[in-house]
Amino acid sequence: MNIKIADLAFEPLITADTIQTRIKEIAVDLNKDYADKAPVFVGVLNGCFMFMADLLKEITVPCEVAFTKLSSYHGGVTSTRRIRDDFDLLTDITNRHVILVEDIVDTGNTLDYLVAKLSHRKPASITVVALLLKPDAVEYPVEELKHVAFQIPNEFVVGYGLDYMELGRNLNGIYKRVV
Ligand code: IMP
Repeated sequence: MNIKIADLAFEPLITADTIQTRIKEIAVDLNKDYADKAPVFVGVLNGCFMFMADLLKEITVPCEVAFTKLSSYHGGVTSTRRIRDDFDLLTDITNRHVILVEDIVDTGNTLDYLVAKLSHRKPASITVVALLLKPDAVEYPVEELKHVAFQIPNEFVVGYGLDYMELGRNLNGIYKRVV
């Protein structure tokens, strides 16, 4: 069913069930790879909150959870390229295995910035898990991006943490803009 958010119409792209199934698959890999590493999961707010919560429910290895906040869209449907560092990661990640949890990688600008910033703190490793990737939009490839739940077309999406004008984050599936 199509929905309206502010002035835009959206149609279903990925259902809630499909998201949950894929999250379980990614968690199997992470539980295997990080069995004895006590990783720190770092969520990138605001968009990560649903994905982070559902992913962490499937993680069975000892781990820590922390957050940082960045923003780059500032209300529209395209990246502004101006990254605002809203709040920093407070956990000391020196010699720790870090798993960054991102909602979506579009141009890759935000992720590139964050990985470079955290690398200066000398973690043992950094791996990125992203819910969505728009392969056709990537301008800054990030080699640490190892797990992607879904690759999607270069179109604007909302739901499951992602917003349009701060609306739509509460939807349990992902919707794409009807153009
Ligand atoms: P990038 O820096 O161009 O990769 O953009 C990444 C950030 O832009 C994400 O963390 C989101 O906050 C936002 N973003 C990118 N694409 C979308 C979209 O389709 N819907 C909602 N937000 C998006």
